[in-house]
Amino acid sequence: MERTLIIVKPDGVQRGLTGEIVRRFEARGLRIIGMKFMIPSRELAARHYAVHEGKPFYPGLIDYITSGPVLVMALEGPGAIEAARNTIGKTNPVEAAAGSIRGDFGITIGRNLVHGSDGPETAAKELALWFEPHELVNWQRDTDRWILEDN
Ligand code: RTP
Ligand code: MG
Repeated sequence: MERTLIIVKPDGVQRGLTGEIVRRFEARGLRIIGMKFMIPSRELAARHYAVHEGKPFYPGLIDYITSGPVLVMALEGPGAIEAARNTIGKTNPVEAAAGSIRGDFGITIGRNLVHGSDGPETAAKELALWFEPHELVNWQRDTDRWILEDN
């Protein structure tokens, strides 16, 4: 089992796409274990995107992610990190496959709707940054035996 941190970015929320985006992860079989709605502080955004500090797009990225409410989710499942990244699509929506969230709803890299952790270490760091341990829920989904081979 793997965990990943997903954010519906401010453009996704403003465009009324939160339900559609959550639906796609749920339909895929990823289990929601945490969810919150908030306007990220600049400090939180800076910690989240620290790896990009100094890059030309960094100031715009921080302005973008703090520009309004976001929906933050923790998802769990086998290969959850890669599965979620594939459901999200390539960073630049122009290159994202049709059928992916960015490929279906995005057209420019600076408004690409969703964030997903890019590896196990990043996922662990990001989950700890956005959620307190008690905010993550351990639960058994009744449909798991139809979704997961080993459950
Ligand atoms: P994210 O972290 O948001 O899930 O996106 P990602 O892994 O697909 O892409 P990453 O390289 O981590 O970049 C983070 C966000 O910065 C913006 N960006 N703009 N103008 C540019 O060249 C550029 N490159 C990246 C995007 O909003 C990207 O999602
Ligand atoms: Mg990234």
